[in-house]
Amino acid sequence: MTLAGLLLLLCGAFAAWVYSSKNSEEVAFMNRVRYEAGAHKGADFCGSCHRDIYQQWRNRSRHAVSVSAESVRDVIRNLKTHTILNYALGGEDMCYACHGPKAENAGVDCETCHGPASGFASIGEAHAKKFKPGMESMRKEEFCASCHEIPGFVTPYSDWQFSEAAANGTTCQSCHMALVEAGTAYHGFDSFVLDEQIYDGDLGLSDIRLEFPELHLTIENHLTGHSIPAGGPTRILALEVTFSDARGNEIHRDRKTFAKYHNLVPLLGFWPYEIIADTTLKSLEHRPLNFSLPAELDGKISAVNLILRFYEVADEHAGDIGKAHYVSKPILEKRINSFPRTGANTG
Ligand code: HEC
Ligand code: HEC
Ligand code: HEC
Ligand code: HEC
Ligand code: HEC
Repeated sequence: MTLAGLLLLLCGAFAAWVYSSKNSEEVAFMNRVRYEAGAHKGADFCGSCHRDIYQQWRNRSRHAVSVSAESVRDVIRNLKTHTILNYALGGEDMCYACHGPKAENAGVDCETCHGPASGFASIGEAHAKKFKPGMESMRKEEFCASCHEIPGFVTPYSDWQFSEAAANGTTCQSCHMALVEAGTAYHGFDSFVLDEQIYDGDLGLSDIRLEFPELHLTIENHLTGHSIPAGGPTRILALEVTFSDARGNEIHRDRKTFAKYHNLVPLLGFWPYEIIADTTLKSLEHRPLNFSLPAELDGKISAVNLILRFYEVADEHAGDIGKAHYVSKPILEKRINSFPRTGANTG
């Protein structure tokens, strides 16, 4: 078989896999309304009355930049250079089913969620007829899942289904869109990329013990709703540990990452092909971790510094955090300056 033939076959299989995961409501995004240029009043218009909501959306959320962000443009440019894959996926238009109307470059804006207002003679009429899909169905978690769930890859919804939050009837909206002081539903849809402090209190490091040649500790996810990281394989949480001697010099470092790891499409080296491991921290999980130390450090370690931070890495770099396009400030930092004299580390 020629190389081109082989490529075609592989891409056919990949496209079949993409489309087979598309059964009925599971991936409702293919049925989402597609906007044409001009069929849109735009967020600035809605924001002229709904000022607080507009400010939260514009200044805090990635929904507002989900078409314009350089990282998204990058993937679209890259996709276009892989002609067959681009064709198999249905071209960049497929992206706009979730990332917001293409022609408007507006991201996931008011009308992407609340429905277009332009078919109506006046905004009064649009309000009177209620926007589609309508508030009642928008308050259900399936509404978020129509974009935030790609089975096996992006899974906050399937995580949530088996969580304590779901058992208590706590939806995505109850947590992410709780009422703010003005009495309106919060529209900031916070992301660690814009504010790492949103994770304050959501992660913990406990039971830190140096029992040479191992450092033991427990990492905790305090969220009752879903895993951390919550999204797809581009989101990586890392625990970075540095060991230093009595003079404060760094003598060793190690790292563990928590993410969904994937393969790339064979031969093309692009896009997540299949998830091969999932080390994300499940809702309310307390996971014990061990770091092994080289024998020559026996008796030399006097302090340990632990830092948790997020990385964002484009799919094509397959989880290589050295190629991250975004690195957060520390989410949580702990320094241990003295250890109970246990094991062989007695100096
Ligand atoms: C001329 C001012 C004005 C403009 C422009 C405007 N709205 Fe409203 N909107 C209101 C008022 C007033 C209400 C009723 C009070 C409230 O809920 O804030 C309302 C209510 C709503 C509601 C709640 C409906 C419900 O059933 O509870 C939604 C959703 C909404 N607007 C969306 C939009 C969107 C989307 C746009 C832009 C396409 C928009 N509005 C533009 C004034 C406006
Ligand atoms: C039309 C599709 C769509 C809908 C509906 C939608 N989102 Fe999003 N959301 C996105 C996209 C796309 C991004 C990523 C934007 C980017 O990073 O470029 C995003 C980003 C986010 C983020 C920021 C964190 C992150 O991973 O970047 C949060 C939080 C979020 N959405 C929550 C929600 C919640 C809660 C709902 C339901 C009320 C919801 N979204 C509905 C498409 C959608
Ligand atoms: C990602 C989807 C999404 C986007 C984007 C979005 N909304 Fe909403 N909006 C919702 C959901 C879901 C609710 C219902 C929240 C609830 O009651 O739990 C809501 C509620 C509202 C309400 C009802 C009043 C209230 O505060 O409860 C208004 C008004 C509104 N949105 C206006 C806007 C405007 C204006 C924009 C653009 C600046 C916007 N929304 C962008 C999903 C969205
Ligand atoms: C019990 C509360 C709760 C529920 C329910 C919940 N979340 Fe979250 N979620 C959080 C908290 C807290 C964070 C950490 C960041 C923050 O504070 O916004 C988070 C983070 C996220 C993030 C990642 C933000 C980032 O940039 O790292 C996404 C995406 C997300 N949630 C989507 C959802 C979706 C979709 C649902 C429903 C299927 C959902 N969440 C249900 C509380 C909840
Ligand atoms: C099923 C809905 C959906 C489709 C289709 C989709 N995305 Fe996304 N995308 C998301 C969501 C939700 C996020 C938020 C991150 C997460 O939860 O992992 C995201 C995140 C991203 C990110 C990382 C965030 C950033 O700003 O760096 C990039 C890049 C991206 N998408 C590009 C694309 C491109 C290019 C396409 C089309 C080939 C596409 N997406 C198709 C839902 C979708």
